[in-house]
Amino acid sequence: MVTAVLIGAGARGKDTYGKWIAAHTDRARLVALAEPSEARREACAAEHRIEPGYRFSSGEELLDRPRLADACIVATQDRDHTAPALAAMAKGYQVLLEKPMAPTEEECRLMAEAAREAGVELRVCHVLRYTPFFSAIKRCLDSGAIGAVATIQLSENVGYWHFAHSFVRGNWRRARDSNPLILAKSCHDMDILAWLADSPARSVQSSGSLSFYRPEKAPPGAPERCLAGCPRSGDCPWEATRLYLHGTPLLQSYRDSPVPALRLLARAATSPLIRGRVDWREWPASVISDDPSPEARLEALRTGPYGRCVFRCDNDVVDRQTLGLSFENGVEASFCLHGFSFEEARRIRVDGSKGSLEGRFGLSGSLLVLHEHRSGRRRTLLRRADLGGHGGGDAGLMDAFFSSVEARKAGRSPAEPRTSAEVSLASHRICFAAERSRLEGRSVRLDEPKA
Ligand SMILES: NC(=O)c1ccc[n+]([C@@H]2O[C@H](COP(=O)([O-])OP(=O)(O)OC[C@H]3O[C@@H](n4cnc5c(N)ncnc54)[C@H](O)[C@@H]3O)[C@@H](O)[C@H]2O)c1
Repeated sequence: MVTAVLIGAGARGKDTYGKWIAAHTDRARLVALAEPSEARREACAAEHRIEPGYRFSSGEELLDRPRLADACIVATQDRDHTAPALAAMAKGYQVLLEKPMAPTEEECRLMAEAAREAGVELRVCHVLRYTPFFSAIKRCLDSGAIGAVATIQLSENVGYWHFAHSFVRGNWRRARDSNPLILAKSCHDMDILAWLADSPARSVQSSGSLSFYRPEKAPPGAPERCLAGCPRSGDCPWEATRLYLHGTPLLQSYRDSPVPALRLLARAATSPLIRGRVDWREWPASVISDDPSPEARLEALRTGPYGRCVFRCDNDVVDRQTLGLSFENGVEASFCLHGFSFEEARRIRVDGSKGSLEGRFGLSGSLLVLHEHRSGRRRTLLRRADLGGHGGGDAGLMDAFFSSVEARKAGRSPAEPRTSAEVSLASHRICFAAERSRLEGRSVRLDEPKA
């Protein structure tokens, strides 16, 4: 049994990692938590039956105490990772740290060094590594099935509604409060590209801009908020009640699901008979109000950030970005990230001397196909419908982290981890270099001295 403390009981801490722990009481137990929001703190404490003396209103208070458990999960917002992670490692906790590690390379480096010095695990939540989909790609490349890898093309097609939720109206809309988009959203993708290329990155070239979600693109007469009598609410894809009351755009993404019931649900979500009657309370509706009732959510849309017109927010992160990435071993990769997609899905293509891999990894399922050059055969390596939870990555990460802590606790050596703080540092460095390239309009070498 591994015991854990949680710092930050928000969408990730409470609703993802907390839920996994609650579903695995034979392996894990949450014994203390820190969360400033009383509603979230008490709800999470009640779910895990945490004693009143172990419910803290800040990570600082919790980490002031002698070590209370084997592991510490740090799931605070992007700019609040470094201090609790360092304090937890100094206390001897094994640490599971949300991505991105930190907003600066120096802080990332500091954390990786601290883990090494304290002899503890610092596992960054690069959930994609633990998905059946990306694991199958890695296995296929390692088996030599496509020969020598030459190129990787990866695109992250963020659904137009998800992008508006997180990067226009929501928590990651301003770089100074969170991070540049390439770090906030795509440190996962840089981690995956480096893992699949199996080589350190040499140089990166990037461009991108915030060209669409801007005030001058607002339709004539659009007010500040959707519910303030917008004349375009009938035909605007971002109209707030569609997503936050009824979940319509998210449900529509299931139209291509391999699960017939989900395809039906997607059809129902667009049918005029049912549309507007669904009471959607899951993410992202769960984020806008601690009270899940439709009345409370409507009030949140009238007064809070998520009811704003997408063209009238205070966002500054880019809404499109591309990257060209060269690796030391000669692999060339391209990456495209944008917030205009009909589907919430990554698409990938890996071409090698003996074959090619083509894949789609999305909200409504994943598909991976191998094309063999010599035989001309085409084989489906994977077709799955993993609902939510990052295509099985959230659960895979928790399983791997808790197994590793359990092994350490029992004096066994943990299974070879899929990643380490050093590896995460290396992929975060690609993001910092890419942002530098975008801002300075030039190719950036990973080994160049910082200005
Ligand atoms: N691994 C992934 O795929 C993935 C996906 C989404 C988000 N994230 C990352 O997870 C992190 C958390 O995201 P979220 O959506 O859960 O955010 P959130 O805002 O829902 O949760 C953060 C919580 O931390 C709490 N908090 C603030 N200050 C605190 C303090 N001093 N001590 C303790 N708690 C404090 C907040 O009240 C909030 O409840 C972010 O860094 C985000 O980028 C990772």
